Amino acid sequence: MIRTTRSCSSRLRPSRLAGLALGAALLLTLAAGCRSDSGSGDSTIRVGVALYTQDDTFISAVAQELERLAREAEGGAGDLKINLSVADGRSNQTTQMDQIDQFISRGCDVLCINIVDRTAAAVLIDKAEEAGVPVIFFNRQPVAEDIRRWEQIYYVGARAEEGGALQGQLVLEAWRSGRERWDRNGDGVVQYAMLEGEPGHQDALLRTEYSVKALTDAGLAVEKLASDTANWNRGQAEAKMKQWLEEFGEEIEVVFSNNDDMALGAIDAIREAGLALPLVVGVDATAPALEAVAAGTLQGTVLNDAQGIAGAMLELALALSSGRDPAEVVALEDGHYVWLPYRQITRETLEPSESLPLPSRTKN
Ligand code: BGC
Ligand code: CA
Repeated sequence: MIRTTRSCSSRLRPSRLAGLALGAALLLTLAAGCRSDSGSGDSTIRVGVALYTQDDTFISAVAQELERLAREAEGGAGDLKINLSVADGRSNQTTQMDQIDQFISRGCDVLCINIVDRTAAAVLIDKAEEAGVPVIFFNRQPVAEDIRRWEQIYYVGARAEEGGALQGQLVLEAWRSGRERWDRNGDGVVQYAMLEGEPGHQDALLRTEYSVKALTDAGLAVEKLASDTANWNRGQAEAKMKQWLEEFGEEIEVVFSNNDDMALGAIDAIREAGLALPLVVGVDATAPALEAVAAGTLQGTVLNDAQGIAGAMLELALALSSGRDPAEVVALEDGHYVWLPYRQITRETLEPSESLPLPSRTKN
C-alpha cells in the first residue's frame, strides 16, 4: 500500500515508487509530508526517514516496523498524528544528502537516518544542527567523534561485536556436540569460509572478527579457506560460494555469513552443486532464515532486533519532537546510544509459535 499526498521529498515520485516492487509489506507513507499544514495547535509529528536502500531485507523490515508502530501509537493517543516520510537513498550518498536537504527544508521535526556512507555523517550533522532538527542514526553507525558533534544526535542499533560473538558461539556449540558430523577431514581444525557484508560496514568488520574469535578464544584451531564480500546479498553470495565450491568442494566445514540473506545464498549454491551441507550460520533472523533453521539447512542465526530498533527510534522521535528528555523513554548510553541486544536462534530454541519478525522478501 502506498499513500502519497504531499511528500517531504519531491524526489520520491509516486510513479517511481510504484515501480519499486517493495513487497506488499513495506508501507511508504508520504502523508502530509514534513510540513504541518493544519495550522497551529495540531499534534502532528513529522519524521523524515532516510534509508540507504530499500532493496535490503533487514532495512525494509525496520521501515515496515516503524510504520506499524507509528500507526499503533496514533491509535493509542488522542489526536496524535505521525507523518512518516520514507526516502530510498538507492545506495548513493549524494542522493541521500538531497533527500535530507528536502526533509529539513520542508520542516521535519526529527530525522531517522540509515546513512549510506558511514564516514559522511559530519556534513549531515552540521546541516541538521544548523536547522535545529535532531537526528537518530540507525543500523549504519557513524564514528563516535561524529555522534558527539551535537547533543541532539543519537544512534540506535545492536553491538556488532556481540552479534559476531553469539554467532561464533553457535558454531562452537554445534561443533562440540556434533564433531563427527562437522569435522569432515577429522583433523580437529575448523576449515571455514566467511561471507562478509558490505566493506566498511561496522557489522561486516566486527561480525567477521568476533565470530572467529569465539572459536579461537575457546581453544579451537581454525583454518580460513576463503573470505570475501557478497555485500549482504543472496545472489552475490550464491555466486561466490559456487566459486569456492569449485575450489574446495566439501573441504569447507563451516560457513560463517555476516547476515542471513548471504547464508541462504551459500545454501542455494551448495544444494545446486548437490553437495552435503556444511555448518552454515547467519545473522538477522529473517523469515526465510527462520524457515531454513526449522528445516535444518541453516544451523542457526542471531536475531537482529528490527522491531526493537524501530520501537526505540519511535520513542526517541516522539520525545524529541515534544521537547521531552529522551533519557526518560529509552535507556541512553553516553547520552547518545540506544543498544538493542542480539539473541541466538537454533532449531532447539525456535518456538513453534515464534513470530516471524521479518518479511519473507529477500534481496534477489
Ligand atoms: C544486517 C544486514 C543488512 C545491513 C544493512 C546489517 O545489520 O544484518 O542484513 O543488510 O545491516 O546496513
Ligand atoms: Ca577439519
